[in-house]
Amino acid sequence: MARISTITSIYCWLIIAALAGGILLLTGCQNGKIPDEDSYAAQLYLKRCGQCHQPYNPNLMTATMWAAQVELMQARMKQAGLLPLTSAERKTILDYLTSNAGKQ
Ligand code: HEC
Repeated sequence: MARISTITSIYCWLIIAALAGGILLLTGCQNGKIPDEDSYAAQLYLKRCGQCHQPYNPNLMTATMWAAQVELMQARMKQAGLLPLTSAERKTILDYLTSNAGKQ
């Protein structure tokens, strides 16, 4: 009996630890600070790309992927009737994303 309850309590702790880790990971993703958060480019990114979903951290995609993603998102903005990115905004955002992009 005593042995079983020790094992059970170890499992309990493992589950609690796993849950806590998962929550930390999740909140880390959602509220993770983006690079140079106070810069004009980062603020523009947060403002324009955080309207429909949480802004993704630039390091989640490579530069090539960002170029394609921004194209796709411009189409989403159009569909949603939002103001499309001006070419200057697009360039600022894409420069910001690519210079902080993940390596692979
Ligand atoms: C009009 C709302 C809207 C705006 C504004 C918007 N997105 Fe999205 N985004 C979406 C939707 C909807 C999805 C879900 C996937 C899809 O439908 O393409 C998405 C998904 C994503 C994804 C995840 C793609 C994947 O494969 O998991 C990334 C990254 C992304 N958006 C980046 C951006 C960036 C960068 C901007 C700014 C240029 C932006 N989004 C602005 C609506 C938007």
